[in-house]
Amino acid sequence: MSVTETAASEGLIGIGTAIRAVETEINYAARSDAKVLVTGESGVGKEVIAQLVHQRSRRARMPLVTLNCAAIPDALLESGLFGHVKGSFTGAYQDRLGLLEMAHGGSILLDEIGEMSLRMQALLLRFLENGEIQRVGADRVQSQVDVRVIAATNRRLLERIASKEFREDLYYRLNVIHITLPPLRERREDVPVFLQYFLRSYGERHRVRPPDLAPVALTVLVDYDWPGNVRELKNVAERLVLRNTAGVVTAADLPMEIQRQRPPAVVGVARSAADDLFDRLASDRDSFWSVVYPAFMARDLTRADLRALLRKGLQQAGGNYKVLVQLFNMPTNDYKRFLNFLRKHDCHVPFQGFRTAQREAINVPGIDSDRS
Ligand SMILES: Nc1ncnc2c1ncn2[C@@H]1O[C@H](COP(=O)(O)OP(=O)(O)OP(=O)(O)O)[C@@H](O)[C@H]1O
Ligand SMILES: [Mg+2]
Repeated sequence: MSVTETAASEGLIGIGTAIRAVETEINYAARSDAKVLVTGESGVGKEVIAQLVHQRSRRARMPLVTLNCAAIPDALLESGLFGHVKGSFTGAYQDRLGLLEMAHGGSILLDEIGEMSLRMQALLLRFLENGEIQRVGADRVQSQVDVRVIAATNRRLLERIASKEFREDLYYRLNVIHITLPPLRERREDVPVFLQYFLRSYGERHRVRPPDLAPVALTVLVDYDWPGNVRELKNVAERLVLRNTAGVVTAADLPMEIQRQRPPAVVGVARSAADDLFDRLASDRDSFWSVVYPAFMARDLTRADLRALLRKGLQQAGGNYKVLVQLFNMPTNDYKRFLNFLRKHDCHVPFQGFRTAQREAINVPGIDSDRS
């Protein structure tokens, strides 16, 4: 069984309000036969939604057939959907059932519907209006089928309607129940939950003990924008399981594209001492005691520099000094010594302004953001 199947059979993963609202929509959709349109960026979980709608509906014992409209040339798409009769085109050696007939009594997922040609859109619309199947090359209607249609796309269909690439009448036919999945960067509270789930699943699959995530690594992962959404996160989790078996994943173990995502640099503004020191601590993994402390004591570094460095660190650490101690590569039990040093030299920066709701939300069962 693949992790995808496990995921769908365990239900929808996520604790945030956005994903819970989606769950409500799924259950509502499952109660009827109404057409469902699922939209959202690539990798957000549109196929998972379609599977859940089908599995929770009265059609669950019948098949859910999936057709990826983008992967197939037009001529094959038509015979794929509606079937064909022997001799209707070169290579049609025998009559063939289309996917719509195969899905009779069940559901069909028309994935990447936004890529369908205008000609296919017209054929689909005709089917949606009367449920009749005419196989390619047949001179009459073959049968009537009872199929629930679920369509999915990562395209903005309204824009495609405006540019005449998608039929408006088809859009309104498909869009009876509309489920929109927000990108992962708009529901960051779900990132720790996904990580925990996929680290465990891949641990089981590869028969290894999955690694733990150091609090700083978790903060970096929560802050990352995930352009590839859940699919990208899933791949990162698998890599971490394979490379860091039973160890602790630190920020330096994360893929470069994730480590590199920093707030955009302001063009033309010189880097400050705090920027340079921060890079030495966070990327080169030098210790605060070996690079910052001596420079400060020798007065090469001012109080303002040190406070600026702390602000950068606290920003990254979600306002948590314990996380900051790790980020600056000090042993965890240096926490008190570090705070005493800052207070003695009047450099302590209040953490409150850096605690965001989003970062509070990373405290989920099993992933303890204060763990050392
Ligand atoms: N809520 C979720 N629970 C469990 N797994 C999920 C969830 N969301 C996404 N996934 C997993 O993330 C991966 C991508 O999901 P899916 O294929 O459904 O995305 P998609 O939106 O259809 O992407 P595309 O637009 O590229 O087709 C899958 O492996 C899926 O199992
Ligand atoms: Mg998909």
